Amino acid sequence: MKTGIDQISFYTSQYFLDLKTLAEARGVETGKFYVGIGQEKMGIPPPDEDIVTMAASAAFRLKEQGALDGVEALLFATESGVDQSKAAGMFVHGLLSLPQRCRVVELKQACYSATAALRMAMGLVAMKPKSKVLVIASDVARYELGSPGESTQGCGAVAFTVSADPRLLAIDPEAGFYAEDVMDFWRPNYLSEALVDGKYSTLVYIKALKAAWEQYAEESGRFLGDFARFCYHIPFTRMAEKAHQKLAKGISDDELCQKIGESLIYSRIAGNCYSASLYVGLCSLLDHAAEELSGRRIGFYSYGSGCVGEFFSGVVQTDYRMALFTQAHQNLLAGRTELTFQQYEDIYHCGIPTDGGTYIFPQYRTGPFRFAGMQRHKRIYGRR
Ligand code: HMG
Repeated sequence: MKTGIDQISFYTSQYFLDLKTLAEARGVETGKFYVGIGQEKMGIPPPDEDIVTMAASAAFRLKEQGALDGVEALLFATESGVDQSKAAGMFVHGLLSLPQRCRVVELKQACYSATAALRMAMGLVAMKPKSKVLVIASDVARYELGSPGESTQGCGAVAFTVSADPRLLAIDPEAGFYAEDVMDFWRPNYLSEALVDGKYSTLVYIKALKAAWEQYAEESGRFLGDFARFCYHIPFTRMAEKAHQKLAKGISDDELCQKIGESLIYSRIAGNCYSASLYVGLCSLLDHAAEELSGRRIGFYSYGSGCVGEFFSGVVQTDYRMALFTQAHQNLLAGRTELTFQQYEDIYHCGIPTDGGTYIFPQYRTGPFRFAGMQRHKRIYGRR
């Protein structure tokens, strides 16, 4: 039985900061961000947008098509959790009126957790082939102002359904994985910005890739030449390019672009979406590839700091184009509003009240849902 991703939808904030604005404010050459890091814009969530509203907005497109009817589990991957106890998925379950006969849980291991959710979803579907699981990954990448990580911020969510006989991508059983207890990137509970040992994190990313690929190659007997395209976890697009150059030694610039270029287009203008990033890359690839990909194999590298890496693969299915949300993704990205540097810093400093009082947040542009305010320590969400 084939199991995998039936449909996938991507959402990011309606606001962005151009990195040339950041470069100017920080006294850095724009080339460092546009070329050296490979990022042009970063998605910035306004105060009434968070991982819940982004997640619900990504999943709403699936809901509108009836794809969430009868969904039996919602696995929510994030490292930007909004509550220490309640899963962010519970808010989404309410906002989307999902069936009550549904398992809901939140998963965490930095940017890797969406891949863990995909694996768990496949296990659930294997046990009950007629069932369907909704996986959502949603994150806000946030670093200290003025730090080296600042230009790699971003935000976004993906929502995908996992089922038997998927229309988009059948996931292969083989995988290679690697775990090591390292402090390359982390966020203590008392901080709202991540801490990172930046250069070290890029080395561990590559180390885990090599180990994961080695195991995958041993198990599957496949070679790099067996893949039509590759999707990487994308903290910034140069990282994915460098990773692929390490794996495919001596690859020409043209071939590098052919193998991963289409997967980087959305991330270059949305920024790091942490747990969602790899799957934003998949959306970007499927939305942009002019070449017919049905029947072709894609290689995936999922990485979460701390760290866990996994290399796996999937085969694009016939008629996959019928299951895409290309136009909706492109309309969203084309319709975003650019922030000034002052607006960016103001939003950055806009914290969530913690005194238990009643607060109604100012209304910005969001998707169908908004984080409307706080009351007695409860988050209030609503339809826009
Ligand atoms: P930095 O140290 O300020 O940058 O920040 P740099 O000085 O190394 O410059 C970057 C590149 O720009 C260099 O190229 C420069 O030469 C080039 P490279 O040597 O790398 O090829 N450059 C220029 N290019 C063109 N024109 C110019 C110019 N000037 C310089 N004028 C760093 C880099 C990665 C450290 C920083 O962005 C950072 O800390 N980022 C956050 C951490 C991160 O993203 N790590 C990635 C791996 S870990 C991961 O992916 C997991 C993660 O997503 C979290 C999770 O799992 O939850 C982060």
